Amino acid sequence: MKLNIVGLSGSLRRDSYNRKALAVAQSIACEAGADVREIDLKTLNLPLYDGDIEKEGFPENVEKIRSLVREADVILFATPEYNHSVSGAMKNAIDWLSTGGENVLDGKFAAIFGASTGLYGTLRAQLHLRQILTALNVVMLPHPQVFIRTAREAFDENGSLKDQKVFTQLKSLIQRTMDLAVVIKNKS
Ligand SMILES: Cc1cc2nc3c(=O)[nH]c(=O)nc-3n(C[C@H](O)[C@H](O)[C@H](O)COP(=O)(O)O)c2cc1C
Repeated sequence: MKLNIVGLSGSLRRDSYNRKALAVAQSIACEAGADVREIDLKTLNLPLYDGDIEKEGFPENVEKIRSLVREADVILFATPEYNHSVSGAMKNAIDWLSTGGENVLDGKFAAIFGASTGLYGTLRAQLHLRQILTALNVVMLPHPQVFIRTAREAFDENGSLKDQKVFTQLKSLIQRTMDLAVVIKNKS
């Protein structure tokens, strides 16, 4: 079974460490045989969630992200940590995905991970992200947890993770999430 996977970084920054981490995760999923596509929140430039906008109908870019996620089996979330939580961009995208009478994240499988320049490697942001996605019935493995600490030193010039242990954890998280999605999808 070929899985359809989308990746999403909560950082809009051009040289973002989370976009680097997402690129690594996406290539792992690709090598494992999935169809992989990145949802670029910077290009999508979603408006801030506003019930008045929603009432008039979803804007085109909101429809676009909703349909990409609706068609996906697995979502890769690379989260930065801003003030011990997820970024506004990430939360805003999730809010748009959850609303309008159809939570398009319902029943999806997700792998969450993140990179920060601090010592905790997005531990606190991931706890919040896990809580938010649990509210939306997204299935996530409890382990392995992937914390990319001191992100300024974490990647080499080719964008690869320098720490082989962290790379192995990320690979295992992606592979096991894909395996879980296949098993459950084959049963339903
Ligand atoms: C508003 C803001 C708040 C931040 N808060 C945290 C934090 O709570 N913990 C942490 O480890 N790093 C924090 N940082 C530093 C980020 O880890 C760092 O900017 C990182 O590069 C962001 O991810 P990115 O490279 O993908 O953009 C913060 C950065 C910003 C801009």
